[in-house]
Amino acid sequence: MTAIRVALLGSGVVGSAVAKRLVDEADDLAARAGAPLEVVGVAVRDTGKDRSATGLAPELFTTDAEALVQRADIVVELMGGIEPARSLLRKAIEHGASVVTANKLLLGEDGPALYEQAEAAGVDLSYEAAVAGAIPLIRPLRESLAGDHVTRVMGIVNGTTNYILDKMDRTGAALADVLAEAQELGYAEADPTADVEGHDAQAKAAILASLAFHTRVVTSQVHCEGIMGITAEDIQAARRIGLVVKLLAIAERVRDDSAGDALSVRVHPVLVPRSHPLAAVHEAFNAVFVETELAGDLMFYGRGAGGDPTASAVLGDLVQAARNRVAGGHGPGESAYADLPVLPIGRA
Ligand code: NAP
Ligand code: HSE
Repeated sequence: MTAIRVALLGSGVVGSAVAKRLVDEADDLAARAGAPLEVVGVAVRDTGKDRSATGLAPELFTTDAEALVQRADIVVELMGGIEPARSLLRKAIEHGASVVTANKLLLGEDGPALYEQAEAAGVDLSYEAAVAGAIPLIRPLRESLAGDHVTRVMGIVNGTTNYILDKMDRTGAALADVLAEAQELGYAEADPTADVEGHDAQAKAAILASLAFHTRVVTSQVHCEGIMGITAEDIQAARRIGLVVKLLAIAERVRDDSAGDALSVRVHPVLVPRSHPLAAVHEAFNAVFVETELAGDLMFYGRGAGGDPTASAVLGDLVQAARNRVAGGHGPGESAYADLPVLPIGRA
């Protein structure tokens, strides 16, 4: 059976967890995918670092990501950031590779162009890990709910800020002290201001809104307020009156006097009653409510950040992309047909 050639771009918190699993579970993954998944290289910035924990041979690590993507059937992008990730994914698709990415920053900014390129090339572009870590959410929105109408998506989609707010609530600690813990645990972005200022959740809200409402929303259209201004005193004051502070991402269909049918997409801290299920989402867990016309309310809950949980979502995409290649096809893309304006920032 011909092996599927897999290129990994990045071997950090998530990439190294994916690599290790590809080594440790090679036989099982081959059986599930329908072909062996052969790692043909791993692009990193620094080939001098010790990568032995992955179980991959040292000679597989390279700084030449551009050459690597041209000799793979599936490219798994786990380096983060806009460039060079965008150019590398574009090049991979041009070469006919399927791509898997966890990069919400890139998809929030430039997802529509990449989805169109993948669609035109007839390859998969999968990104289950880009929103809410391990939680299966992208595929249910795109596939399971394809016959329903979503009216609202609302939830906790950033593990770092939930970890911080939860710890502040439970211990009275200050934000700055808890942020360092979230970084050590591998939850925070390389630049943690993306988490605490809400930009990570903002990009995820754009991705979710696009999928749920069959339209194109980019990060810059999403109203965003982070948690930097929240003090230990604010949290304790909320606690005394039975409330808890959570950073929520919300995308909903609204009727607006001037815009008609429109979308409101926003990220901001919310005071949640302690009796609400979102109040019970602790540590770096995420939870997303999806409200629909036919299915009613659905709730998705699980680990939203961290190496192994995120690797689970990445590997699920990788196995599915491999199955599709073995079968000679590709999975469903994103249908974007709805003409729904996004309410301007400030009116969201
Ligand atoms: P990370 O620990 O910072 O790892 C990044 C990896 O990419 C490192 O191996 C780094 O190489 C490599 N890299 C970065 N820039 C590169 C470049 N220009 N050329 C070659 N290699 C480069 O990041 P992470 O936490 O694993 O996150 C990876 C992606 O997953 C990001 O898009 C992030 O938003 C997303 N994500 C993360 C989580 C999480 O919990 N951490 C969850 C969901 C999604 P070196 O090792 O040599 O520095
Ligand atoms: N930094 C992100 C978070 C990683 O804390 O949710 C998962 O996307």
